[in-house]
Amino acid sequence: MPGDKSVSHRALLFAALAEGESRVRGLLRAEDVHSTWKAVERMGARVREEGPTVVVTPPERLSEPDDVVDCGNSGTSLRLLAGVASALPGLTVLTGDASLRRRPVRRVIEPLRRMGATLWARDGDRLPPLVVRGGALRGTRHVLEVPSAQVKSAILLAGLFAEGETAVVEPAASRDHTERMLERMGAPVRVEGLEVRVSPGRLRGGELDVPGDVSSAAFFLCGAAALSGSAVTALGVGTNPTRTGLLEVLSAMGARVEVANERESGGEPRADVTVRGGELRATTIQGPIIPRLIDELPVIMAMATQARGRTVIRDARELRVKESDRLASVGETLAAAGARVELFEDGCAIEGPTPLRGVPVRTRLDHRVAMSMAIAQLFAGGGEMVLDDVSCVATSFPGFFDTLERLSEPAP
Ligand code: S3P
Repeated sequence: MPGDKSVSHRALLFAALAEGESRVRGLLRAEDVHSTWKAVERMGARVREEGPTVVVTPPERLSEPDDVVDCGNSGTSLRLLAGVASALPGLTVLTGDASLRRRPVRRVIEPLRRMGATLWARDGDRLPPLVVRGGALRGTRHVLEVPSAQVKSAILLAGLFAEGETAVVEPAASRDHTERMLERMGAPVRVEGLEVRVSPGRLRGGELDVPGDVSSAAFFLCGAAALSGSAVTALGVGTNPTRTGLLEVLSAMGARVEVANERESGGEPRADVTVRGGELRATTIQGPIIPRLIDELPVIMAMATQARGRTVIRDARELRVKESDRLASVGETLAAAGARVELFEDGCAIEGPTPLRGVPVRTRLDHRVAMSMAIAQLFAGGGEMVLDDVSCVATSFPGFFDTLERLSEPAP
């Protein structure tokens, strides 16, 4: 599997903020991470490849970028950089593609303003481009309404440069890669339940290791789960508990899940995960598990069309503000393909099993919509899902179609 996208962004950005060089192994080479790569270069870091390793040489201090920073499709780049830019003396303008420019930014503007930064955005501070004038920050305690690792990380990064302590409290646990990596790099971070606190400090560069992306593996794991007789093993994928909600859902639905060869490197657990398919049954997915599988919900929706009974997803309103409105994009496309789907404001219900038929698919600049519907094609009995644009897949998983083709080959 390609490197984990979330961990890859953090490795580049935190290495750029550190003192001393960092060597990153397993970095995801995909467009989203390239956006962070370009951004840190524009702010003065040097990033070079040495074989499979990426070496980051930070400047003494990151500097004001000399042009608008284009984050492409990457919400993680834009929101994390907003936190860093808030502490940079000077002006930073963050923008992105048509999808990113429809995604909400008030959620980072408000807490960063409370810390003393000046930020503006388009449409009454709702949408990018985002303009940040950084300066002296003060540590503040923030209680988030929605669990979001991007918002939490933006605040913690700003907190590294603030006077006094900064705290973030989430209503449910989101991915904790930032906390783990900051701690590894020597930052004074403390985690107590759903509260994370950080004090000012300089990070130490060093060896950083990126596990395989469990969210990329999810497409094949869900495909295998719904196809009787299939088995897929994803080697060396991250099994950080804040990311493995999918494995619990697969087990609850009746797929056989095996986690082997568990180890830890770079502060993140990883393992080889095998899923064997069979008759799936419906399940209910809601509450605190949602942030632990938020990015997997599109492919879970596709898989649920093959499970017996009514699969219900709730508390997932956040899906509406991802690279596209994923409830609408996936729900409507699956319905057009013959699935029985009911959409709610915060989720959906899918009644199965139903065979799907091939339909045209608008991928809407959303990599996970494209990949989920490619998996849905496996349930279409030879019918073809015709994706209007697959270039978006390059944002997280450039080799997706090759891997799918390789795994789909009939056994010799
Ligand atoms: C991410 C956090 C999540 C996730 C996104 C990556 C991160 O977004 O959906 O794909 O790397 O911090 P939110 O913070 O908006 O929940």
